[in-house]
Amino acid sequence: MSMDYVTSRLATEDGGPARLAYGGDYNPEQWPEEVWQEDVQLMREAGVNLVSVGIFSWALLEPAEGEYEFGWLDRVLDLLHANGIRVDLANATASPPPWFSHKYPQSLPVRADGVQLGYGSRQAFSANSPEYRRAAAALTQQIVDRYADHPAVVMWHVHNEYGCHNQPDYGGYSAAAFRVWLERRYKSLEGLNAAWGTAFWSQHYYSWEEVQPPRISGTWVNPTQQLDFARFSSDALLECYQAEAEIIRARSPHPVTTNFMGFNMGLQAPVDYWRWSRDMDIVSNDHYLIADDERNFQHLAMTADLTRGWAQGKPWLLMEHSTSAVNWQPRNVAKAPGEMLRNSLQHVARGSDGALFFQWRASRAGAEKYHSGMLPHAGTDSKVWREVVQLGKALQSIAEVVGSVVEGVQVAILHDTDARWASELDSHPSVDADALAETRRWHDAFYRAGITTDIRQSTDDLSGYRLVIAPMLYLVTDEGHANLEGFVRNGGDLVVTYFSGIVDENDAIRLAPAAGGGYPGAFLDLLGVRMEEFFPLRSGEQVQLDGYGTGSRWSELGRTTTAEALAVFTSGPVAGSPAVTRNKAGSGTAYYVATTLGTEGLDRLVQELAEGAGVEPVLPDLPPDVEAVRRSRDGQSWIFVLNHGADEAVVQVQGTELIGGTEANPLRVPGGGSAVVRLQSQPKDAA
Ligand code: GLA
Repeated sequence: MSMDYVTSRLATEDGGPARLAYGGDYNPEQWPEEVWQEDVQLMREAGVNLVSVGIFSWALLEPAEGEYEFGWLDRVLDLLHANGIRVDLANATASPPPWFSHKYPQSLPVRADGVQLGYGSRQAFSANSPEYRRAAAALTQQIVDRYADHPAVVMWHVHNEYGCHNQPDYGGYSAAAFRVWLERRYKSLEGLNAAWGTAFWSQHYYSWEEVQPPRISGTWVNPTQQLDFARFSSDALLECYQAEAEIIRARSPHPVTTNFMGFNMGLQAPVDYWRWSRDMDIVSNDHYLIADDERNFQHLAMTADLTRGWAQGKPWLLMEHSTSAVNWQPRNVAKAPGEMLRNSLQHVARGSDGALFFQWRASRAGAEKYHSGMLPHAGTDSKVWREVVQLGKALQSIAEVVGSVVEGVQVAILHDTDARWASELDSHPSVDADALAETRRWHDAFYRAGITTDIRQSTDDLSGYRLVIAPMLYLVTDEGHANLEGFVRNGGDLVVTYFSGIVDENDAIRLAPAAGGGYPGAFLDLLGVRMEEFFPLRSGEQVQLDGYGTGSRWSELGRTTTAEALAVFTSGPVAGSPAVTRNKAGSGTAYYVATTLGTEGLDRLVQELAEGAGVEPVLPDLPPDVEAVRRSRDGQSWIFVLNHGADEAVVQVQGTELIGGTEANPLRVPGGGSAVVRLQSQPKDAA
């Protein structure tokens, strides 16, 4: 099942072609019923065709245990259907009602410090609470039985942003389930003791009952215990999803999804989306701009590329973003004119078959009343509403891109969940060794070069790529390592950065006695270097290289074995040690970068890497701050051009610009503007 299923059900009322999904979370229960009429009328005016309903409706749908009240939801779905608006129906399990938490206080989650969380917000449950699982399954069954055949429903929205607020849970239910999970993984206590390295600090376990979640202790808790707990916590939530999805699938043919949270999948909210995406009929994601990030459109691009990776390159769905400000940052910066359209088209450019928002109508009460909506407090005489109508029209004018894909991408950046989690464990050489930040630096560099990148994991089939970047792949499994080695030996170019290949899947150092010891253990032979000691740099410290400018955050003492040094450190604690190296292996090349390069040096290296691997930008000579991404289907291509800069951009591309309905030759895009060009002729084989 794919996005095609949904988009084909979004065909126009007169049976016209498939459409891009447009709409958002619709929470009519927050408003008196007379407002609903205005809602649907305005949705039609804006071109809304898909809304997510019922996400936080549990308390109204089940006012007391086992007593259900569906009358209001019946009327909402009938009204939407009568107005041609399709529904992504939630099973409403994201926020157990107060009666539930009051009746089953043992279901509430517990923090690492032992504090049990109260209710009164949302997601107040432990994934391992049998009371929660039973109640969530019962509610799901009721909803699917009632609405499986409702003509408005085209997809199912299970829960909401799993793990956003209640992950991980360190309570008694999770402790018991953790032990079961560990027994399954290690079979015996000997296995667990070996994997966790419990000889250190007298941590040997003699019975399963002694094993606990990694609750706060006097100092650092066993890192492998922490890593396993993250894996377990993700699996526990996934079991909740799977159980609810199974109930739905038994009764309904419509696709089932849950909305992911992009890169917010770190150790603090561990959800392994690579693993989870296999259980999605459609991968869907939420993305919000961070106001403090001055180039947050690049964060958007990186997140969209990651989501496309989870979707294995197929179209996916932007389930939520915001029309303007959010409410949860220190300073909630509103969007500039044109920014919302640009953001939406950026997601579509990178593979989303639609643009949905949180939420339809801005709330008048509750914790999110300062969050923007499609219909703001100011009503229809407002910048936001006018842009919502404009976006609806724009999505209609580019509807022909539905089902097309971002194909022929030649560069992959790796972002393994285990590597990310392990890199975030405590007591490491430097807080500046930050996998997410290093990944962003590399993605930014390719973005500046106008080269589209996929984001994948080390165990994926990488054979279609010419160039693979492994930014801080701190933990690498044997399987991932073998895959990368094979990729290079078969002719691929691989870049490995510092603090990669250091530990195995149990977070134990990969000692490499055969290679004479040293770092980066897993990649010593492939890279042809042997590093012996890390020399993290002081905060703000920069060191010179004799090529590629400066380095910061990290350096290391070592030498090349079979590699050629493209640059060495010429200042700082390891002057003379290699900083950037290249090694031939099989018919490919493996590069090592032993520091964080400055922007200029990184850009130069990326240019050389691209030239060396025969990778080309989507369009040549793009002006700065202008983004171009290509989607294609059946020999037809469309180029999305997003101008994030203030000045008009002139872009050499010929074809029909679909939003304005003009012929482009060349294309002129005003500062802050967006364009989508149906290409007349195919450009060179570039992605
Ligand atoms: C998340 C949630 C929504 C809402 C928004 C606010 O994406 O899924 O319910 O809270 O954040 O930005």
